Amino acid sequence: MRYGRFDDKHREYVIDRPDTPLPWINYLGTEEYFGLISNTAGGYSFFKDARLRRLTRYRYNNAPLDSGGRYIYLRDDGPHTPGPSFWSPSWQPTRIPLDEYECRHGMGYTIIRSKLNGIESSTRYFVPLGESLEIWELTLTNHRDETAQISVYSAVEFNLWDAMDDATNYQRNYSIGEVEVLDGTIYHKTEYRERRDHFAYLACSESVSGFDTQREAFLGAYRGWDSPSAVETGQMSDSVAHGWQPIGTQQVKVQLEAGEQKKVIFILGYHENLINEKFDPPNSQTINKRSVLPVIKKYLQSENVDTAFQALRKYWDELLDKYQVTTPDEHTNRMVNIWNAYQVMITFNMSRSASYFESGIGRGMGFRDSNQDLLGFVHMLPDRARERILDLAATQLPSGGAYHQYQPLTKRGNNAVGGGFNDDPLWLILAVAAYLKETVDWGILDEAVPYDNQPGSEEPLYGHLQRSIQYTLDRLGPHSLPLIGRADWNDCLNLNCFSDAPGESFQTTTSKDGKVAESVFIAGLFVLAAKEMISIAEHLGKADEMEAYSAAKQKMEKAVWSAGWDGEWFRRAYDDFGRALGSKENDEGQIFIEPQGICVMAGLGLDDDRATKALDSIDKHLATPHGIVLHQPAFSKYYLHLGEISSYPPGYKENAGIFCHTNPWIMIAEAMAGRGDKAYDYYLRINPSAREDISEVHKCEPYIYAQMIAGVDAPTHGEAKNSWLTGTAAWNYVAITQWILGIRPTFDGLEVAPVIPSGWDGFEATRSYRGIRYEIRVKRKGPGNGVRLEVGGNPIEGNIIPILSNGKKEVQVQIWLGEK
Ligand code: GLC
Ligand code: GLC
Repeated sequence: MRYGRFDDKHREYVIDRPDTPLPWINYLGTEEYFGLISNTAGGYSFFKDARLRRLTRYRYNNAPLDSGGRYIYLRDDGPHTPGPSFWSPSWQPTRIPLDEYECRHGMGYTIIRSKLNGIESSTRYFVPLGESLEIWELTLTNHRDETAQISVYSAVEFNLWDAMDDATNYQRNYSIGEVEVLDGTIYHKTEYRERRDHFAYLACSESVSGFDTQREAFLGAYRGWDSPSAVETGQMSDSVAHGWQPIGTQQVKVQLEAGEQKKVIFILGYHENLINEKFDPPNSQTINKRSVLPVIKKYLQSENVDTAFQALRKYWDELLDKYQVTTPDEHTNRMVNIWNAYQVMITFNMSRSASYFESGIGRGMGFRDSNQDLLGFVHMLPDRARERILDLAATQLPSGGAYHQYQPLTKRGNNAVGGGFNDDPLWLILAVAAYLKETVDWGILDEAVPYDNQPGSEEPLYGHLQRSIQYTLDRLGPHSLPLIGRADWNDCLNLNCFSDAPGESFQTTTSKDGKVAESVFIAGLFVLAAKEMISIAEHLGKADEMEAYSAAKQKMEKAVWSAGWDGEWFRRAYDDFGRALGSKENDEGQIFIEPQGICVMAGLGLDDDRATKALDSIDKHLATPHGIVLHQPAFSKYYLHLGEISSYPPGYKENAGIFCHTNPWIMIAEAMAGRGDKAYDYYLRINPSAREDISEVHKCEPYIYAQMIAGVDAPTHGEAKNSWLTGTAAWNYVAITQWILGIRPTFDGLEVAPVIPSGWDGFEATRSYRGIRYEIRVKRKGPGNGVRLEVGGNPIEGNIIPILSNGKKEVQVQIWLGEK
């Protein structure tokens, strides 16, 4: 069953009923100001950091689920037509049935259109490029054959900035809320009197006939957002908040002749003043509005709103146009061309901080996560990838280890979340290698970057990469495999925790400095990273280092073959007692997906039959119609020595859920093994668009990937959770664009090596790369993956497109597939 449809031409998903199985959301903002917006206008906004600079309130885990948003109410002031006297044009929060409803989630904007009793409203929400504000542009149309008098209300609940404190520290917070109201604009200035230099504002293009800033004055005691008494009665109190819950709500009276259309623009914004210019007059406590007023004025004009919207569209068109494909499959086309690329950008901006499953409080930017996100977006915004790499590296510790997370506002490692995840540093190498392959900006390796942000500790970025490798080599276990530390990629495989206290966090509880538990996954990741280091050292002309990395790589491969191979697949780990996990010797957790993916991606077993053996074992033991599960059999009980992985009920999350992030590793591995049909089959199983028809089962948005789909052991097999912020986005993008379609950057140039389904007769793609736009046509001539290339009409050797010296900005590439 579907709840909407794709409109690929406009790069939108169109939801046609408000009661989707879960809120289906979108993101606003591209740089510093961000918002989450659901299909019923729920969500919240923040500046840079969802925890430390939260503008508006949102109540997670509420009933109804989606509580708090950027709400608009419409009130029929008369003459009265039969029907409700007030409603929400976005359905929530009044949930009064609408005659028509449609929500269009697009690239960085959302438009919610509805109609009730002949009054049509359409609200376009977006954040203009380069601004720290959001626009709600409401267009009202009167389809009645008589004049309508409509009151329009805006409504937001302000957050007192630190979202954690806001949700817990009521003894203080009920006394500190402050606002100012001037010319219809509401300024939220809690704590501005003391150490804050920022405030929020809600402004309106029309003259305001009333307002409220104290929540209870607007709602009425014991009432909720579904029926504010001020809207019901039409009477605002013009309340000024002193403590309690400051809100922003304005009433605008609109008269619409029959057939008439009018616009009302609201803007919700964030503004900072210079510390010594906070107040006006200087010795007062009144906000200095001199620098904010011109911004407000600008965006309350409809022409400027249009111009800003067109600029936003152009921005996204340009980003997405860097890689566009036409294949025989519409799910592939729309995911590659639109939604997967878009999601990759969102994960770049948010890491794992703010979604409808991540509260914006618990997590900052993940070290491992952000490095992987980069693999997906580096071709779209290489400059920001560069900046991100340097930020991440600056949180690395002198040992080569890393903080697991850092706060986006401060860019400092988050001590509370800790470190000791022994895979973390290796991901930095993958990210830097991807950046170099895309940009050839070798200068980045010379950038001086500190450790733990300590001035004076700077070293060239290359040194950071060397320490990442050394970190693993300094921590090898009894089988010469890498020690796992607190966990590896699987945060929940906690072999050194032995936690028996309820509620204790597996991620931060004191963990044993174990010298026994080892990870085959990290071994595979190490081989992959060492390969990149060899190429980098080669390029830098550092022969000794090249040799050292080659030797380390070979040693690690040897360790994998002697202790990490189980006969039919790669083992997962060794526990603190030195027993294998992910082996046929185990009762539960006999085979895991992660080591099969990473080891084959690292090239292990590709020159004999062991890679295909491992992949066949995946097919046999782990593949389901909804995707590939993490392991089998699921853990049926809690194992003290395994940790959080066994804390989940079977089939969910890390306990044998379909953890989508890992599925593309198998797609890539299958492609490397030359099995295009299998790679593509796995691709389609979790492709959200291909699952659109079962939205009532899948439940999450059909236009973006979710972190997890319930596995076979779960009663709700096939149900997705944790949509949006997941490494699934970047890795699926890499799997389809670089390995199945096979267009991938290398240190030497753009390589083309498609491993597509046998039934496809070819495809076309355009890819911008190092300043040149390649128009690539792939035509199948026979079975197999052999390729012959013609570049600009001339046959070339091999399959890396040579950089032509003729200065042409557009190059035609013809590929004949399956000829040899
Ligand atoms: C989450 C984390 C990621 C981790 C994965 C598996 O997606 O963000 O870092 O690798 O879970 O535990
Ligand atoms: C990852 C895992 C999750 C675990 C969390 C701890 O996100 O997916 O299951 O609880 O890490 O931070």
